[in-house]
Amino acid sequence: MIREKLLYVETFGCQMNVSDSEKIVALLSKVGYHPTQDSSRADLIILNTCSVREKPEKKVYSSLGRFKGLKKGGRRLILAVGGCVAQQEGERLLENIPYLDIVFGTHNLHLLPDMVRRAEEGARLAETGFIDSEERLDLFPVEDGAGGVSRFVTVMQGCDNFCSYCIVPYVRGREISRRSAEIIREITEMAERGVREVTLLGQNVNSYGLKSSGEPDFAGLLRQVADIPGIERVRFTTSHPKDISPPLIACFAENVKVCGHIHLPAQSGSEAVLARMNRGYGRKEYLEKIAALKAARPGIQITGDMIVGFPGEGEADFQDTLSLMEEVGYADLFSFKYSVRSGTGAAGYPDDVAGAVKQERLSRLQELQRKITLEGNRSFVGTIQEVLVEGVNRRGDQLFGRTSGNRVVNFSGPPSLIGSITEVAITRAFQNSLLGETRTSRQLAAASGIL
Ligand code: 5AD
Ligand code: SF4
Repeated sequence: MIREKLLYVETFGCQMNVSDSEKIVALLSKVGYHPTQDSSRADLIILNTCSVREKPEKKVYSSLGRFKGLKKGGRRLILAVGGCVAQQEGERLLENIPYLDIVFGTHNLHLLPDMVRRAEEGARLAETGFIDSEERLDLFPVEDGAGGVSRFVTVMQGCDNFCSYCIVPYVRGREISRRSAEIIREITEMAERGVREVTLLGQNVNSYGLKSSGEPDFAGLLRQVADIPGIERVRFTTSHPKDISPPLIACFAENVKVCGHIHLPAQSGSEAVLARMNRGYGRKEYLEKIAALKAARPGIQITGDMIVGFPGEGEADFQDTLSLMEEVGYADLFSFKYSVRSGTGAAGYPDDVAGAVKQERLSRLQELQRKITLEGNRSFVGTIQEVLVEGVNRRGDQLFGRTSGNRVVNFSGPPSLIGSITEVAITRAFQNSLLGETRTSRQLAAASGIL
């Protein structure tokens, strides 16, 4: 009997990489590779890498070292590196890492089955060519047939913004939008299989369709997706503040299926730093957009990304970041210490904020955010929230789901609720989640005298 071949994929970085890894698994399952969680049993190990920041990039190299040991003793194992580090380093990775077999770039996922076949025959190969046409996004099966309640759907890839600190435009290439008909077809099939919520995904979703003729803009796409029968909720990420248009803001006011949450990274609260970051907006414009979003959808939850220690950032600039955070009242914030990425615009600036100062600012920022997040969470106690129930939590004792504003809620209830939107009364708030109870569980508790 032929033993089935096992594939282990390790994913670094962003949601785009998580989605790419799903596509890799779907593609390679067609040529006989089945996913495993156990790297020591794998016949093929793929590292889907990230080079956006220093930390994930370093992790890639330590993982490679870990897998080197698995090849010892002559065991047949193919080791592949894909994603942003692969795109950046290309052939150099093969030259520097003698035990590496395959390098594939961010536009070359569809070539993998053939590359793996050739590696099985002993070849070592690298493919990192960019494909700057819409066809690229139709080159691999986007639909893997998987179920679940909530799914991510890639609608565009790449970025044309060239924020001065960012490597993405160099490793992901130019912005390309998928055809709306393809997106609608894919989500319709998902809805038929029970998916209730989709998150439209792209490095910069707000510029969806702007370079394609005959396609809707992002607000138009959002409305079309919300109209698909069975789809109850639509989310999207990531948005660029400069591209938040009045029609998009109107979607929050008019369309209840568009969730009350937006991820809108500011990156800094300082006018001077934002200008050097080449973000295309200032503090004032950012806050105006936030105000318009809050007016369109009262209670909208806002999350973001923030960088501390960008070149030239003084204490006053950092104070502007802290005050912006308070003014916006972020539900949650991803925060990072600036790390220079070679080849980017900001690599030309001296990296002049000392490591210790970056760390100290990051700690202060995170402390403030923890306080804002907890206060925000507490404000939900005593309210009734509509929760889309996604499954049973890790401990296996409660259901979990998300509010429209993307807060995680745990509560007791029957598994039959999974996939439905249920009203949950919020009883307690924690740093990362809310606790609640359904009307039925409250009635039961009252009847037994617990309340
Ligand atoms: N240094 C630190 N953080 C960065 N990010 C992107 N590039 C850098 C960098 N060079 C952060 C930004 C972005 C997120 C995905 O990563 O905040 O929104
Ligand atoms: Fe990077 Fe800016 Fe593009 Fe986001 S918008 S991916 S931060 S260049």
